[in-house]
Amino acid sequence: MPDTLSITDNRTGKTYEVPIEDGTIKALDLRKIKTDAEDFGLMAYDPGFMNTAACKSRITFIDGDKGILRYRGYPIEQLAEQSDFLEVAYLLYFGELPTRSQLDDFKRTVLSHTIIHEQTKKFIDGFRHDSHPMGAFLSTVAALSTFYREVKNIFDAQNRVIQFERMVAKMPTIAAFCYRHSVGMPFAYPDNDLSYAGNFLNMMFKGTETKFKPNPVLERAMDVLFILHADHEQNCSTTTMRGIGSSHCDPFTALAGAAAALYGPLHGGANEAVLKMLVEIGSKDRVPEFIRRVKAGEGQRLMGFGHRVYKNYDPRAKIIKKVAFEVFEVTGRNPLLDIALELERIALEDDYFVGRKLYPNVDFYSGLIYQAMGFPTEMFPVLFAIPRTPGWLSQWEEQILDPEQRIVRPRQVYLGYDEREYVPMAIREESTQTV
Ligand code: CMC
Repeated sequence: MPDTLSITDNRTGKTYEVPIEDGTIKALDLRKIKTDAEDFGLMAYDPGFMNTAACKSRITFIDGDKGILRYRGYPIEQLAEQSDFLEVAYLLYFGELPTRSQLDDFKRTVLSHTIIHEQTKKFIDGFRHDSHPMGAFLSTVAALSTFYREVKNIFDAQNRVIQFERMVAKMPTIAAFCYRHSVGMPFAYPDNDLSYAGNFLNMMFKGTETKFKPNPVLERAMDVLFILHADHEQNCSTTTMRGIGSSHCDPFTALAGAAAALYGPLHGGANEAVLKMLVEIGSKDRVPEFIRRVKAGEGQRLMGFGHRVYKNYDPRAKIIKKVAFEVFEVTGRNPLLDIALELERIALEDDYFVGRKLYPNVDFYSGLIYQAMGFPTEMFPVLFAIPRTPGWLSQWEEQILDPEQRIVRPRQVYLGYDEREYVPMAIREESTQTV
């Protein structure tokens, strides 16, 4: 059987043969389907890119029906269990797991870039005392492009590697500085004796002690959460990264745009919504009534449940649930956990959720962990942006090197006015007076 699609245009009776490759047809092949020579040709209409592949990628694989997530072929469960975040960052960007010496070099280089230029602090100081850390974070990332003139040399492979290492290194520092500014605390400088995650906790929570010692369970939990958030193929922020990158702008500016896309509550802000929901429910015995209202469409959705791609248990949610219990052993049990567990128990037995394949997603438990570790809810999107940095940059790199990629420029279906004559102001005034 040929790998083609036969399309008959009933407007003209003509039949077209369109090649099928990798389970797709080329949207441009539709253009030759015309009613006459004047016709522009057929287009695909797909708001939200519900069924449009905009790139070919070799980075992250998701099978939403089976609940599978893999980075460069490696299952997320194995990476969360056996790897660490910097190794995963290396894997995402370079495509292979590093040797011992490659990993040591990479870690040494990244840690040597953790300090930010002293002038950067002046930008951060310029934000209002109670500014949202995510707004300050993404603006500071954009501003950093002005410090490194060479970032514009995007077709220099070695230069791209340096920017990758630099950005992975500096994100936790910028994030922690933005947080400390928002709560009026002095900046805590990076301590490169610590791990990547441990150093981030140091910069966030160091008080007057001379040396901050991260709790190993919380340090590992932070690292695992970073691994789980490192990439998720063509989501809203990654698509933004690729969109901005397609104009060949520098990676700092593109990444600031991707972080802006992540800022929205439909993307990076859902775990905050989960916490709010749990607080509103207030106690375990009020869960059945809450579920009844969700099902009846009377209130909000069950936040932290459902996913556009996963129609099974989000594999990240399973890992996060385990991490939550380990963290609570150290921090004490988050009182909202019992409500979350009861919600999950009831929802997973309920036909409404089962029938619609609504399972817990990555955000159902992550907010509870962050809260127990002492992060304010406003930091949640920032906690997502730090580990997504290697994912965004790997996707950007892939795009830069892909000869099939073009500047992003979708089409539209124009439904506005046809041509009409300009109406001079005096005549417009007259007509409004007579109305
Ligand atoms: N609670 C109750 N009903 C739901 C929920 C939910 N959380 N999610 C979907 N449904 C229902 C929805 O009402 C619809 O029912 P019906 O067919 O009767 O109209 C059906 O399930 C399909 O929903 P949909 O809106 O077509 O699904 P979608 O793929 O467009 O939406 C979603 C995916 C994540 C936006 C949605 O499930 C949702 O709003 N979940 C809650 C918010 C949330 O947890 N977001 C975090 C996503 S994970 C973070 C990330 O990876 O970026």
